[in-house]
Amino acid sequence: MRKDFLEFSPPVIGDDEVNAVVETLRSSWITTGPKTKEFEKKFAEKFGAAALAVNSCTAALHTALVGLGIGPGDEVITTPMTFCSTVNVIEQVGARPVLVDVEPDTLNIDPDKVEDAVTAKTKAIMPVHYTGHPVDLDAVYDIAKRHNLFVVEDAAHAVSAQYKGRYIGSGGTIAAFSFYATKNMTTAEGGMLTGTPDFVEKCRIISLHGMSRDAWNRYSKEGSWYYEVLLPGFKYNMTDIQASLGLVQLEKLESFQLRRAEIVAKYNQEFKNYDALEIPVAKAEVEHAWHLYVLKLNLQALRINRNQFIEELKVRNIGTSVHFIPIHLHPYYRDKYGYKPEDFPVAFNNYQRILSLPLHAGLSDNDVQDVIAAVVEIVKKYRR
Ligand SMILES: Cc1ncc(COP(=O)(O)O)c(C=O)c1O
Repeated sequence: MRKDFLEFSPPVIGDDEVNAVVETLRSSWITTGPKTKEFEKKFAEKFGAAALAVNSCTAALHTALVGLGIGPGDEVITTPMTFCSTVNVIEQVGARPVLVDVEPDTLNIDPDKVEDAVTAKTKAIMPVHYTGHPVDLDAVYDIAKRHNLFVVEDAAHAVSAQYKGRYIGSGGTIAAFSFYATKNMTTAEGGMLTGTPDFVEKCRIISLHGMSRDAWNRYSKEGSWYYEVLLPGFKYNMTDIQASLGLVQLEKLESFQLRRAEIVAKYNQEFKNYDALEIPVAKAEVEHAWHLYVLKLNLQALRINRNQFIEELKVRNIGTSVHFIPIHLHPYYRDKYGYKPEDFPVAFNNYQRILSLPLHAGLSDNDVQDVIAAVVEIVKKYRR
């Protein structure tokens, strides 16, 4: 058995990142400035988008909704299989989140159910590329087009994922990425919003006090002190400290992604041999970002439940997580909208049998073997 505890998802930070951050700290400009501009530019070039760096994916989602003018009286269709911030931002603009159930294989929003949920009040669809597996975007954009709806993609898990050969966030689509500490690339906290150049520039103003000119454009030699407040905006800007970390992580992203895919292949190779385990899918038309490795347990084949399975892994020094506790089970949403667990049966039933295994570019082959050995041992010990 493993001697030390294997953390679920620590960041992969090397000397390059440390040096880049120190260099920024030693410079005369540490908040939004040249590094943030460079980070936006490099991200935009790589993913084929106009890009706005902000301090979280949540901030990017919130800014996008405000930028689209979504507010009280409006409805936004989204998934219960997500992190709370997807839905919280809809509440924060005063709109109503309308949940629809997910597909049984990918656990992504089910486009057939989206169509049924459209009403005269619907303004937007917010699909989430759950675990980094792109949503069926053709189907989602087709519904959006027919009903004149906006699409805001929650791409927190999907940096470098592709749908039918194009990057998520490319081509003027509105997508919000996360660089939170556990993500495929990190700035500790941070996010990026993509969209058309016009939309991104509008969101830039919303994201920073509604000011016509940011601080870099006021305090630098070429800048001017004068600005105007055009609307009551937020304080969502990314700092140059974060951006300097992000620039190095972006350089390393491809190698991180290769390592993630390698680990997934090793997990799948072993776990596919056990009927108590169901391995994650990756459909032919997508390039999976593999942010998370979500293993589904076939509970009928086991004498223990998911929570006990997690405890058994912990005893064997393997850290795990669960993505996600479906939104409709959280007290705020359950009570406000009167949801019952079975209202979204696919999300609810899968919630009871999923767990996320360690998956990050810093895992050694030995770490991966330890995870596999622990899972297999538990399956053998508790099979029915
Ligand atoms: C699906 C999803 N959306 C949004 C977020 C929010 O990201 P951030 O922490 O960058 O605001 C997360 C964070 O984990 C997430 O998993």
